[in-house]
Amino acid sequence: MSNPTVVGFSGNITRPSKTRAFVDLVARDIAARHGLSASTYDIEDLGPSLGTARWARDLDGQARAILEQVLAADVLVVGSPTYKGSYTGLFKHFFDLIDPAVLRGKPILLTATGGGERHALIVEHQLRPLFGFFEAFTLPTAVYATDKDFTDGVLRSDAILKRAAQAVDEVGFVLANRSAGRIAAE
Ligand SMILES: Cc1cc2nc3c(=O)[nH]c(=O)nc-3n(C[C@H](O)[C@H](O)[C@H](O)COP(=O)(O)O)c2cc1C
Repeated sequence: MSNPTVVGFSGNITRPSKTRAFVDLVARDIAARHGLSASTYDIEDLGPSLGTARWARDLDGQARAILEQVLAADVLVVGSPTYKGSYTGLFKHFFDLIDPAVLRGKPILLTATGGGERHALIVEHQLRPLFGFFEAFTLPTAVYATDKDFTDGVLRSDAILKRAAQAVDEVGFVLANRSAGRIAAE
């Protein structure tokens, strides 16, 4: 059986990206603490076919491979920079290409970054309803960081790191319950 995976997906459209760095940090922490393999992708990784795709089948091989890893992940960490009070357009477009049923029940840790505190509720008012549509299992603790929480592109704020650690703990509860469910079903 292959190792369970955590996949980070960040909606940043430019690099270097604080959001990508943050999503990757959280994904790696999940991997280290709960024994999963981690990888992180962003819009740049998807390449040019994302922008012109109207259906998932229009994606080129590289983008398609990332989409498949997202769908196959045992845990997802999603994040987006706040653009005009919400996630980036291409972040939404990526999820618009996904069949409504295929993320059902998937544990998803929500993160976002923004220039300031004003849009901190993007995680609750934009990201959570999007994944609610998919009937995904969004974790209770969502994490928002602002530009001032980063130094040289790396998240340094103790308060945000503590909140992220709380969310990573919740991944542990979900994974433990899933294993218990599997054992009970066997
Ligand atoms: C086009 C654009 C729109 C933005 N809109 C907002 C906004 O509405 N609220 C906010 O807090 N920050 C806003 N920002 C700031 C970014 O969200 C913030 O700098 C973010 O951390 C950048 O992430 P990145 O380094 O991953 O690109 C905006 C930035 C850009 C470029």
